[in-house]
Amino acid sequence: MITSRTILFVVLFVLLCFSGNSFSQNFAQSQKEVIAILGTGDMGDSFGPRLAVLGYKIVYGSRNPDSEKVVALVEKTGNGASAATNVMAARKADIVFLALPWEPIEQILKRVGDMEGKIIIDLTWPESEVGPDGYYQMIIKPSGAEVIQSWVPKAMVVKAFGTTGTNVIDDPDDAGGLVTIPIASDHRHGKEVTARIAAELGLDPVDAGPLRMARNIEAMMELYMVPHTQGRDTGWEFYFRRTNYWMCNEYTGGEEVDGSSTVSDADNLAEMPQTHGALKPCPQ
Ligand SMILES: NC(=O)c1ccc[n+]([C@@H]2O[C@H](COP(=O)([O-])OP(=O)(O)OC[C@H]3O[C@@H](n4cnc5c(N)ncnc54)[C@H](OP(=O)(O)O)[C@@H]3O)[C@@H](O)[C@H]2O)c1
Repeated sequence: MITSRTILFVVLFVLLCFSGNSFSQNFAQSQKEVIAILGTGDMGDSFGPRLAVLGYKIVYGSRNPDSEKVVALVEKTGNGASAATNVMAARKADIVFLALPWEPIEQILKRVGDMEGKIIIDLTWPESEVGPDGYYQMIIKPSGAEVIQSWVPKAMVVKAFGTTGTNVIDDPDDAGGLVTIPIASDHRHGKEVTARIAAELGLDPVDAGPLRMARNIEAMMELYMVPHTQGRDTGWEFYFRRTNYWMCNEYTGGEEVDGSSTVSDADNLAEMPQTHGALKPCPQ
């Protein structure tokens, strides 16, 4: 006998089959990733609690996961947060934030094992020295992020967040307006996930191109430190004001801009969240 419950079951089954991918994609999107934050210092203890409020499950990586400091941070973070050694935390996570000094990173990542499919967000200040003029200069070439990618070739390394301070991660309005986060990676998915997280944190992500652009991002990190090195009271934050100059120029018959057709990811550009305001209209 066909009962009403059987009919309901069949209807639901057919609906699920026809919705196919979109059902599973929506379901997957509603499950936020597990994020490992390696290092429980200034950056780690700023990112962790904010990301937990956004629904991410946080696992801190620490040299001393049972220390009073880390236990208190886990408790403050909530949403099922935990702590483990750096290697174990990275193994458990989909996304790994490197909130560490440069020196221990190679050894930690190489001990994690297969990192295929994991996104590594590199916000570190790579090894540097004070130049003869007293200003910092990076000594890792071509860039810290590219060197990290060479240690874990199957992971998706993304350079991001190092151009701002822990004060802005705590409060994105600390500088009185939007703060831009340039994001460089050779992996579209890694870039889009990082951009989504930046926007969720109240920041302004921009696609800074392939991972080799980390060289420029790390140069921006050097710039960021200039007023501090000079002993000035006032620091600065980066904001990339948008313009539609190139688009307007094409419409008004100006010089054509076809640079995008030559880049390697032209047909596969990362989608960036819209975080900036309206653009000035093109002149008539
Ligand atoms: N602070 C900022 O505003 C800022 C801005 C831009 C970029 N950055 C960069 O972000 C990274 C983290 O900065 P931070 O300010 O959070 O540094 P931090 O306050 O010194 O904290 C780094 C954490 O890394 C762990 N750690 C330290 N030495 C270690 C070692 N030898 N081996 C393994 N783990 C070690 C420690 O956590 P455990 O004790 O739990 O192991 C420590 O609390 C750095 O590369 C920094 O240059 C910072």
